[in-house]
Amino acid sequence: MARLEGEQPLADRRALVTAGPTHEPIDPVRYLANRSSGTQGYAIARALAAAGADVTLVSGPTTLPDPPGVHTLRVETARAMLAACQQALPCDIAVCAAAVADWHVAEAPQKIKKAAGQPPPALHLVPNPDILATLSQPAPTRPRLVVGFAAETEHVVEHATAKRLRKGCDWIVANDVSPESGIMGGAENEIDLIDATGCTHWPRLDKMQVAQRLVARIAAFFNSPHV
Ligand code: CTP
Ligand code: CA
Repeated sequence: MARLEGEQPLADRRALVTAGPTHEPIDPVRYLANRSSGTQGYAIARALAAAGADVTLVSGPTTLPDPPGVHTLRVETARAMLAACQQALPCDIAVCAAAVADWHVAEAPQKIKKAAGQPPPALHLVPNPDILATLSQPAPTRPRLVVGFAAETEHVVEHATAKRLRKGCDWIVANDVSPESGIMGGAENEIDLIDATGCTHWPRLDKMQVAQRLVARIAAFFNSPHV
């Protein structure tokens, strides 16, 4: 049946969104981080809520306010982000927009001190859990639609297509995060949306417009006859 204009197409759906960077402590006063602002993930959480979904946003450290109408959980590390996501299951839709650190540091319990005449300390990096791959695993709690992002600096579509298969997610939003693109930390995004049937290039848009367009695709997916 055709939907009425203004109706909330995701009214009966639960959604989980990850956003922002993670901070990985080196010692009690220092951390590893990245340039993610969280803007794109927050915009997606807002757009999902506007479409009627019950949204949990699991956010790394950002300067952004909690989006209205969204249940926002603040975490610091990748490990805490995974735990918060698992608490938010089951859900219908997961969108992993966070720039999760790939590694954490074997953390020093006290501030690392300079020692005269000694070489600088080496950081021992330990792999972080992959939240997107974990949520994508076949399980009774797997969200019906799992959407990942791919941050690439070269061969964007090729790398993102391989990433979709490796992670086991349904769609990948691929973007060019090379310094020349100006995307990382900026107000606009230019993406390729990759699914099992191929790749669609979207023009450069404001991040809120990207979010609305993505949510329209998600709503169309859930309102198609095969779901
Ligand atoms: N991701 C995640 N947990 C991680 C690393 C990444 O959930 N520990 C998610 C991101 O939120 C994004 C997707 O995986 O949706 C791809 O992240 P990206 O950094 O582009 O890919 P990686 O698999 O980490 O590979 P690489 O950084 O080497 O390109
Ligand atoms: Ca990564």
